Amino acid sequence: MSRITVIGGTGYAGSAIAAEAAARGHHVTALSRSLPAAPNPDVHHVQGDATDEPTLSAVIEGADVVVAALAPRGPLAGTFRAVYATIARLADTAGARLYVVGGYSSLRPAPGADRFVTDLTHIPAELHDEIRAGAAVVIEDLPATPETLDWVFVSPALRFGAQMPGERLGRYRLGGEVSVRPEDGGAISAEDYALGFVDLIEKDDHHRKQVNLGW
Ligand SMILES: NC(=O)c1ccc[n+]([C@@H]2O[C@H](COP(=O)([O-])OP(=O)(O)OC[C@H]3O[C@@H](n4cnc5c(N)ncnc54)[C@H](OP(=O)(O)O)[C@@H]3O)[C@@H](O)[C@H]2O)c1
Repeated sequence: MSRITVIGGTGYAGSAIAAEAAARGHHVTALSRSLPAAPNPDVHHVQGDATDEPTLSAVIEGADVVVAALAPRGPLAGTFRAVYATIARLADTAGARLYVVGGYSSLRPAPGADRFVTDLTHIPAELHDEIRAGAAVVIEDLPATPETLDWVFVSPALRFGAQMPGERLGRYRLGGEVSVRPEDGGAISAEDYALGFVDLIEKDDHHRKQVNLGW
């Protein structure tokens, strides 16, 4: 069993990943600024701010796997990439593999095509900074990390998130940088995303790559 630390482990994506990993018997620590009203009894919840490096160090040290599940919104809007750079550096130092919860817009519609993020004209302007910050993590920041850091950036389908919860189907489709383009329009529930995410952690067969999960 692995020791897995989920930074942002009480959020939409992070809580599902923490729950799936704990249900499989992994030792899961979840970091968030506030403790959940109904804590997962199988998860070790730690209260703290990811912008504080000693707090990050304390939860990353000793981990086999670090999951980054913060969102580039609210107070993190301007510091998201810097916080992720710190998480990456600390994971590398700790010898932990890093799995990042990513966004859909950094994917490509077809092999060799531009990533969706290059044309955001159909997306509300207030979301552009958030989308660009998330995409920059996989386009610029992670590829620039030392080769010793083993990272995987896991994008969800287009329709994913607290505003559009889907049902648990118990299955998913896995793709690389190109969106898996499911027949039903591109959705995945948090539970099915977490299923695929923890399968990726357990199989450990992707390295320094972007993948995507949809149905
Ligand atoms: N279709 C898509 O492309 C799509 C859709 C949705 C999400 N996403 C991506 O998925 C990722 C996760 O999003 P989400 O919707 O799951 O986020 P979320 O529900 O807002 O969860 C964020 C988590 O981070 C914690 N957090 C926030 N600031 C923190 C800080 N300074 N220190 C420690 N913990 C902090 C939150 O808990 P506290 O507030 O208690 O700290 C919470 O646990 C993001 O990168 C997002 O872009 C992609």
